[in-house]
Amino acid sequence: ADGLNTRAVAAGKEYFGTGTDNHELTDMAYVTALSNTADFGQITVGNSMKWDTIEPSRGTFSYTNGDVIASLAAKNGQKLRCHTLVWYNQLPNWVSNGGFDNVTLISIMKNHITNEVTHYKGKCFHWDVVNEALNEDGTYRTNVFYNTIGPAYIPIAFATAAAADPGAKLYYNDYNIESAGAKSTGAQNIVKSIKAYGAKIDGVGFQSHFIVGSTPSQSAQTSNLNAFVALGVEVAITELDIRTTTPATTSAVTQQAKDYASTVGACKAVSKCVGITIWDFTDKYSWIPSTFSGQGAALPWDENLVKKAEVYNAILNAW
Ligand code: XIL
Repeated sequence: ADGLNTRAVAAGKEYFGTGTDNHELTDMAYVTALSNTADFGQITVGNSMKWDTIEPSRGTFSYTNGDVIASLAAKNGQKLRCHTLVWYNQLPNWVSNGGFDNVTLISIMKNHITNEVTHYKGKCFHWDVVNEALNEDGTYRTNVFYNTIGPAYIPIAFATAAAADPGAKLYYNDYNIESAGAKSTGAQNIVKSIKAYGAKIDGVGFQSHFIVGSTPSQSAQTSNLNAFVALGVEVAITELDIRTTTPATTSAVTQQAKDYASTVGACKAVSKCVGITIWDFTDKYSWIPSTFSGQGAALPWDENLVKKAEVYNAILNAW
């Protein structure tokens, strides 16, 4: 059947997919749409593989919610992007405020990665190993890992993940790196430093949380993706949504359709861009309204799980 994923695959991509989360899976109409592989050949675990869920206290691992989504993906025949191993956010206090020294925190980080990646070995085709390590000016974000271990925490994390599941593609993932600038350059430097350390990095994820009318142009996105590909990695659009002031005006929706097409066109133009994931597919479950006050309507399906024809068709036809 025709759909967003079918079109992406016909264009030579590996997938078109969506983020999802456990509490949404009791909504049967939602699950039916999520499981339609014509639209979604891939799902990303929105929250339940983050550190606070997986290892809420030291050495206690809790995989129940992550397993539910991994099983659903397997049942549907969808690829699974696993998200995320090392991030300053949704990190339990026992890590962020633990006061650990360098040697101890390295061992805690390695143990977390090894345990989680081993649990999901063979199930995750991509792992977001490190998420959001950069400030807007391209310098390293200060967080407990950087402050305690230094910049080496990033390559150490990648090397540890690679040892636990050599078959998974390992990604660095961030936002505001979707067009040229200091932060994009910082992310390129992370790729270089991981390689210089002798560790493996396979890909860079561009979150792409955009705003209607100020989304980077297709050509700006294309040339930026190509700058990463030139470093010897693949690229993926990992958390695409395009928010606007709510309620959305008809002109905003028309602009939003164009903005979605820009990102699809950029990925299409770059052969090493392997796929696009939207950050959930319906406004019913978007993270935007609770994070950006007064904004939303960011996704191609509305709050009633009805496709917005103009936006959906723009994505479809941009492949
Ligand atoms: C968001 C989830 O969608 C929300 O449900 C949660 O409350 C906060 O995190 N960048 C990321 C994602 O890498 O993990 C974030 O997901 C959105 C921003």
